[in-house]
Amino acid sequence: MLDQPPATPARAAITAVSSYVPERVLTNADLSQRLDTSDEWIFTRTGIRERRIGAPGETTSMMGAEAVRRLMGRRGLGADEVDAIIVATVTPDMLFPATACLIQDQLTLSRAWGFDLSAACSGFLYGLTVGAQLVASGSHERVVVVGADLMSSIIDPLDRTTAVLFGDGAGAALLERAESGYGILDFHHRVDGSGRNDLMMPAGGSLLPPSMATVAARQHFLKQNGRAVFKFAVTNMVESVQVLLERNGLAASDLAMVIPHQANQRILDATAQRLGLPCERVATVLAAYGNTTGATLPLALDDVVRNGRIARGDLVMFTAVGAGLTSGATLVRWQ
Ligand code: ACO
Repeated sequence: MLDQPPATPARAAITAVSSYVPERVLTNADLSQRLDTSDEWIFTRTGIRERRIGAPGETTSMMGAEAVRRLMGRRGLGADEVDAIIVATVTPDMLFPATACLIQDQLTLSRAWGFDLSAACSGFLYGLTVGAQLVASGSHERVVVVGADLMSSIIDPLDRTTAVLFGDGAGAALLERAESGYGILDFHHRVDGSGRNDLMMPAGGSLLPPSMATVAARQHFLKQNGRAVFKFAVTNMVESVQVLLERNGLAASDLAMVIPHQANQRILDATAQRLGLPCERVATVLAAYGNTTGATLPLALDDVVRNGRIARGDLVMFTAVGAGLTSGATLVRWQ
């Protein structure tokens, strides 16, 4: 990666955002009926009160399509006005075809090409970066980036250490050419594959194709080393933000809002503290939705925008970490 901000003169801006969550609410009290856990344990350790769970038969592409439908409605876009769709997800409807193709078909986006991007909880951030390059190059007018995950499809309902953390949801952002001085100013992304075993789903890929044995061993569920991920998350979100602040001659106090990946309120509090930011400037929707993986950033952004917590000209920092291990940050002057 470059040590300098990208020199591309043209930029992309997020010109609309939307989100969708399923109706069904699963509270901590509901979970404590079937697992050895409690609302008190879950809330004090994670900040989560409840999460949404997809209806029977509801899929990641359906949630993503609904988020995109809302996005297009907000911007008044027709089905022939989207040039590309990038979907960040770890729970595609199937290994292939890509969820982007399924959403394209559900919404009959007649001009759009697209693909899925696998970077777990950093996926939406990475999608913004890729989509922004397509727009900045001048080859694409409108790119839609979707973050969508039906985490309930890969969570072991019997594992209290993970079942309490995750929820289902989707969000989408529209990228268009930015006005001068606005939009996505800079990004910094990293992967550290040495941490690949800290957060993963062991079976279902070419390493361990599905078999009776993998199902019996519950290897089609998410596994994680919670403490290792916690440490990685705080260290790498703080570092990524600091790289961008330094490279752009900014202080943390210049940021109107930090929009971090929503994994655990304690991770967010520690990140805010290390950056010297008041908690009010760190977006959180954890209590209502839990960790929705690819969807956390657009869910949090949509919440911040709908509540008027950022204004034109504000500096907004996105940051995320995820399985891989992946991490990064993106600096935006809000248009
Ligand atoms: N209810 C009650 N007790 C529980 C539960 C639960 N749901 N889960 C674990 N415990 C128990 C453990 O078994 C352990 O008991 P023991 O001491 O008898 O062995 C005790 O609580 C403490 O467990 P720890 O794992 O040490 O708890 P910790 O304070 O580290 O919190 C947690 C665990 C919440 C998973 C935390 O490590 C965390 O949030 N890590 C980040 C991981 C994460 O958010 N991953 C999501 C994906 S990553 C991403 O999005 C980037």
